[in-house]
Amino acid sequence: MGYAVVDVLVRRLATLDDQPAWRTATRAEMETRLRQGPPATPQPFEAILEQLVGDALEFAGRIDHPRFVAFVPTSPTWPSILGDFLAAGFNIFQGTWLESAGPSEIELIVLDWFREWLGLPPGASGLLLSGGSAANLTALVVARHARLGGPDPDAVIYASEQVHSSMERAAAILGFRREQVRLLPTDARFRLPPESLAAAVDADAAAGRRPFLVVANGGATSTGAIDPLGEIADVCAARGLWLHVDAAYGGFAVLTERGRAWLHGIGRADSVTLDPHKWLFQSYEAGCLLVREGRLLRDAFRVMPHYLQDTAVEDEAAEVNFAERGIQLSRMARALKIWISLKYFGVPAFRQAIDTALDLALEAERRIRAAPELELLSPAMLGVVAFRRHPPGIDDAARLERINAALLRRVLDSGLAMVSSTRIHGAYALRLCIMNYRTRAEDVHRILDAFERGPVEEE
Ligand SMILES: Cc1ncc(COP(=O)(O)O)c(C=O)c1O
Repeated sequence: MGYAVVDVLVRRLATLDDQPAWRTATRAEMETRLRQGPPATPQPFEAILEQLVGDALEFAGRIDHPRFVAFVPTSPTWPSILGDFLAAGFNIFQGTWLESAGPSEIELIVLDWFREWLGLPPGASGLLLSGGSAANLTALVVARHARLGGPDPDAVIYASEQVHSSMERAAAILGFRREQVRLLPTDARFRLPPESLAAAVDADAAAGRRPFLVVANGGATSTGAIDPLGEIADVCAARGLWLHVDAAYGGFAVLTERGRAWLHGIGRADSVTLDPHKWLFQSYEAGCLLVREGRLLRDAFRVMPHYLQDTAVEDEAAEVNFAERGIQLSRMARALKIWISLKYFGVPAFRQAIDTALDLALEAERRIRAAPELELLSPAMLGVVAFRRHPPGIDDAARLERINAALLRRVLDSGLAMVSSTRIHGAYALRLCIMNYRTRAEDVHRILDAFERGPVEEE
């Protein structure tokens, strides 16, 4: 059974480029193919595998396809995939040191590698989570606990209007009202201006509210924009605010020289979200939160029921119960795949892959700037570039939106590529997120060809 599964996976990866980047079906078709009652009799594994692949797994995005540039994709390496297989096979429970000393040590080591890459001090630590949403929620719990001691109806959170939706959701989960989250306008490059942040904070403080947290973007999802982290850190330091940097997708760019320069100041954050399942080429799920004063995680989350008393650790400087650092008790060993793949390829291979993706996004930007019928809406930043088809003489925003939506639909239906859309200053925009180590210049040009030369139609 194991060999059969590996064969299926290897065949998939070896033929990825020849497959459509995306395949979907209606709910009705999926029901027809898959709906059955609970099996009353055993079935041969080969038949199950065939049905699973042919009728279910086929109908999904190939997120790791070289021309899947929608949303924020990931392209896991083969060692990463095997890491998850091993974690499941060894049935690791990584909530407590008692039950998983070795895997917990590996998680601590991986977290320390990330900490060093970001330039956080030795006391910083964290945990691996399901993804950026869980990391942002966890950060908000810790920030509130550390700065406010608990819920406060006058507390205020600040971010730019480009902040990821998971932050707003995290605030709602924790009971913040909408007006307690200030989403401030950005500058022309989609960055949060430190002066307007300072002014908003000072005005709230003067009105008797309690500013406590700033969430800065280390790569905004729509545009790739990076807030001026150093200057925002100054604003926070002067006012005792917690600085959280959401670098879920962009953070691993610190491995490259230019990424390190762009993200300068990230090491001054009180907490940072990173998603290894984005630009560190890991399989889903792998998110990460790092906290400058690592002990604050345990302060915020530790509870010790009698039935776990055997697992108690006195001092986190010695052993760590990861369950005491976040919301999960039962935890899978997410660090294994990260550790295995970094060791197998070495860090320079990851740096190179990110650098290549940055170059490809710049190449897309150059081509868009040069094409008479393409209009650049947001320049290449951290692998993200946004544009639209803009035929001469058509300047009505609603018509342009219909033309571009129709082009996008055509590209999706063709299977050539998976691209998604967003809005830039209100305008409908096509957005490429180039992060895959398999993507080549030829792929980028094939995608842009389709948008530049496709027919101008309105849906
Ligand atoms: C900046 C940013 N933060 C948070 C998230 C949420 O991450 P996840 O999907 O891993 O929960 C994303 C996802 O794209 C993101 O780009």
